[in-house]
Amino acid sequence: MKALAIRQYGGPEQLQIMETALPKPNHKEVLVRIHAAGINPVDYKIRSGSLSWISGSKFPKILGGDIAGVVEQADKDSVYKPGDRVFAMLSIKGGGYAEFVTVKETQLCLIPEVISMQDAAATPLAALTALQGLQIRGNINEGDKILINGASGGVGSFAVQIAKAMGANVTAVCSTKNIAFVKDLGADEVIDYTKKDFTDTDNRFKKVFDAVAKSSFNKCKSIMDENGTYITTLPSPAIFLHKALNLLRKQKAAAVLVKPLGTDLTFIADLMKKGIVQAYVQKAFPLAEGAEAHKLIETERVRGKIVLTVIPD
Ligand SMILES: NC(=O)c1ccc[n+]([C@@H]2O[C@H](COP(=O)([O-])OP(=O)(O)OC[C@H]3O[C@@H](n4cnc5c(N)ncnc54)[C@H](OP(=O)(O)O)[C@@H]3O)[C@@H](O)[C@H]2O)c1
Repeated sequence: MKALAIRQYGGPEQLQIMETALPKPNHKEVLVRIHAAGINPVDYKIRSGSLSWISGSKFPKILGGDIAGVVEQADKDSVYKPGDRVFAMLSIKGGGYAEFVTVKETQLCLIPEVISMQDAAATPLAALTALQGLQIRGNINEGDKILINGASGGVGSFAVQIAKAMGANVTAVCSTKNIAFVKDLGADEVIDYTKKDFTDTDNRFKKVFDAVAKSSFNKCKSIMDENGTYITTLPSPAIFLHKALNLLRKQKAAAVLVKPLGTDLTFIADLMKKGIVQAYVQKAFPLAEGAEAHKLIETERVRGKIVLTVIPD
C-alpha cells in the first residue's frame, strides 16, 4: 500500500510517499481503508525526534494518530462490518498517513451519517483531549465558569463546544483574528491575548483548561476559585511536582494525557450527530503534500484543524 512515512527523524522533508506492507488485523482488530487522516502537533513532535523515547527507532515509521475511512475487513463476530464508515484515534504507534490501517475495535466508532470523512478525521485526538481534559476532577455542571486558553486551535475549538454542551459559561482566550471564530463556537466571553493578559480579570473559574499549554498553574491561581483546577495539555515534570503538592492545597493542577477510547468518541459522535459539536477544517492537503501540512501545523497558528485527504470525498 501507499503510505507517507519517514526513514529517519528530522524536518518535514523526511515525509516521503513509499510502498509499505499492507497491515494484517489481529483478533478484535479491523482493517480500515483510510479516506482522510487528521494532523496533530504530536505528529511533528514525533517526526522531529523530540518524542523518540516514546516512538522508538523502528523505521520506516508511518505517522498519523487520527483516521476516518471504511471497514475493509473485520472478524466474523465483530460489531463492525465491511463497508461501515468509521473513525478513530490510533495508538502512539500511528499509521494514519496511509491507504490502510488496523485499528482495535475498542478505539473505533461509527461516523454519523451527516459527517464528512474530512470532518471525522479532524475530530478524534483533539476532541478526546478536550473531553477527557474537561472531565478531570469531576464533570462540568450547568453554569460552571470555565476558561479555555488556545480556544481557536484543534483541542481548544472542541473544548469550547463540549464545555458549552455541558452547560458551562465559557471564557475563550485567542488572538484578534480568531475572536469571531470562537464566538461562533459558542464562547460567552472572549479575551484577546494580544491585547491583554487573560489572568488580568476579576472573574473566578472552576476550571482553567490550558489547551495550548502556554500558561501555568502559578499564573492561573489568581483566576481560579477556591477549589478550582488548572488543566494543561503538557504533562511536564513541573506538573507532576504540582500534582504531589495538590495534597496540601484546595486549588489543583493537572495534565491530560489523551486515551484513544471508542466509548468517549461515541459520546462525541452523538454530539456531532445532533449538530452540537462540529469539526472546523481550515485546510485539507492531498496525502503527498503532507510535508506542507507539517510546515503549517508547526507554526502553531492553525484555526481549528488540518487534514490529509487519501480518497477525496
Ligand atoms: N497531552 C495530550 O494528551 C495532548 C493531546 C492533544 C494535544 N496536546 C498538545 O496540546 C497543544 C495544543 O494542541 P492543538 O491541537 O490544539 O494545537 P494547534 O491546533 O496547533 O494550536 C494552534 C492554535 O493555538 C493558538 N495559540 C497559539 N499560541 C497561543 C497563545 N500564546 N495563547 C493562546 N492561543 C494560542 C493559535 O491561535 P492564534 O494564531 O490566534 O495564536 C492556534 O489557533 C499541543 O502542544 C499538543 O501537542 C496534548
